[in-house]
Amino acid sequence: MTRRPLLVRTYAELNAASADLLRTAAAAHHAGHASLGLVPTMGALHRGHAALVRAAQEANDVVVVSIFVNPLQFGEAADLQRYPRNLEADLELLAECGADIAFAPSVDEVYPGGEPMVRISSGTLGAKFEGASRPGHFDGALTVVAKLLHYGLPPVPADYRAYFGQKDAQQLALVKRMAADLDFPVEIVGVPTVRDEDGLALSSRNRFLDADQRAAALVLYRSLSYLQQQANRHEPLDIKGALAMIASVPQVDLDYLEVVDPDSLEPLAFNCQDTPFTGEALALIAARVGDVRLIDNARLG
Ligand code: PAJ
Repeated sequence: MTRRPLLVRTYAELNAASADLLRTAAAAHHAGHASLGLVPTMGALHRGHAALVRAAQEANDVVVVSIFVNPLQFGEAADLQRYPRNLEADLELLAECGADIAFAPSVDEVYPGGEPMVRISSGTLGAKFEGASRPGHFDGALTVVAKLLHYGLPPVPADYRAYFGQKDAQQLALVKRMAADLDFPVEIVGVPTVRDEDGLALSSRNRFLDADQRAAALVLYRSLSYLQQQANRHEPLDIKGALAMIASVPQVDLDYLEVVDPDSLEPLAFNCQDTPFTGEALALIAARVGDVRLIDNARLG
């Protein structure tokens, strides 16, 4: 399980490598299809990414992890520049969780003609929450996900799945809608959020928090857990109380805390404040701590 993945840089190499591995896998099966799992990432891999790769590894014969820092989804050039890159460490981690192929293309390989003229539109679902504070972000993310899903398409008959984290709940909802609405021949699988022991959701941005900011940031998880407890007991959700918890931590500048439908991300029809909680919902939260923007969410029900 500690064998390094094969590193490929081009679409052609990826195709040749996955065809090879899938044929070998199919030959080992008595009958039926081999399967391929794709895990799109931007590198700087941590245990959150590892959970996606493990989920892919458990369900598929061949696991491809893409590592590509997508310029299209960054608003400010400075953000793109400071995005952490460490391919060596990424390959080490991938060796531990059983990835077969690491696909790390250059910007030119993915966008040979420069920025694409045509992009995926993330529509109304992409305009709210994270989309509201990061214009163009989801169009850029979906455009590269569409391309990566095409690159990863098994070149020989095989089942095809792609793995995304629930940590980025809006991104997951959008990718599922894109695959359904535009008939992508792939099953989109959501993987639960991996957290540090204190509850902070793992993110490549956590490294930009100092110790005080990190301690302050824990209120995001505390407020989500508070709502989760009420949901589990079928009590009304005390959103005001959750907001007060966050407001009591001055370093945390809340952007939004909303309880929404898990698929459409539409606000829920019933009044959470007075009605005992039933059914299923998603609590979404985003806040700035210093100049680091953090997001988290929790399933309710
Ligand atoms: P990146 O931020 O590298 O995340 C890659 C995948 O890892 C995403 O699906 C994300 O939801 C998941 N992930 C990140 N932190 C996680 C955690 N703590 N627990 C579980 N999963 C976690 O998201 C992107 O890259 C890009 O937008 C991408 C989809 C690759 C398109 O460029």
